[in-house]
Amino acid sequence: MIHHVETNQTILNYIRDNSLRESSILKALRDETGEMPECNMQIMPEQGQFMALLTKITHAQKALEIGVFTGYSTLCVAQALPEDGLLIGCDINEEWVNIGRRYWHEAGIDHKIKTMIGDAKSSLTSLLDEGLAGTFDIAFIDADKENYDSYYESALQLIKKGGLLILDNTLWSGAVADPSIEDEETTSLRQINKKLHHDNRVELSFLPFADGLTLALKC
Ligand SMILES: C[S@@+](CC[C@H](N)C(=O)[O-])C[C@H]1O[C@@H](n2cnc3c(N)ncnc32)[C@H](O)[C@@H]1O
Repeated sequence: MIHHVETNQTILNYIRDNSLRESSILKALRDETGEMPECNMQIMPEQGQFMALLTKITHAQKALEIGVFTGYSTLCVAQALPEDGLLIGCDINEEWVNIGRRYWHEAGIDHKIKTMIGDAKSSLTSLLDEGLAGTFDIAFIDADKENYDSYYESALQLIKKGGLLILDNTLWSGAVADPSIEDEETTSLRQINKKLHHDNRVELSFLPFADGLTLALKC
């Protein structure tokens, strides 16, 4: 017999009630972001907790984030880094990043975070030009879906052998599994999922967690 639980709101509430350990600062950031029209872009708090755990499991010192928004995932990961750790966060919208900066400061972890404001493709090229290939332990891809392939290729170069790449929204509310949906974002996510399936540069796990989370370990 295959044990499989269909996730619905009751199950999600149960998981939240029995596992979420969100700090008051993270909760305040989530509440403030919740007032914004773009609030759906923020990761679920359970995902933030999971990413903090992954950061610790991998003993990451140096993290890369592509898509900061108001900095919830940034705060989760940066808090899990050691005191002398570094997270480089890329985003094109400084107004949103400024919201995060207030909370990073309040949490006393802003010394671990460096932001690069601008188009993430250029920021990643600058990091590669600076000779930082093979220096990151963990990377989270969560910016514009149309450019996931480019972000994946750059992030793969920037992380170390044995480093972990995390791609968000790889289920895109299930749209990737519906061939009748052909918009640019869905098509791009479908292509990266297909490419990763047989990409022997990484070991792979595709989790039906949150909006779909793909873990790729650089071989
Ligand atoms: C889904 S949100 C990130 C959510 C964030 N990880 C969190 O936990 O709240 C996507 C972000 O990607 C940024 N973005 C979109 N296109 C971009 C680009 N070309 N370069 C850099 N950032 C971009 C947006 O400004 C937005 O903040």
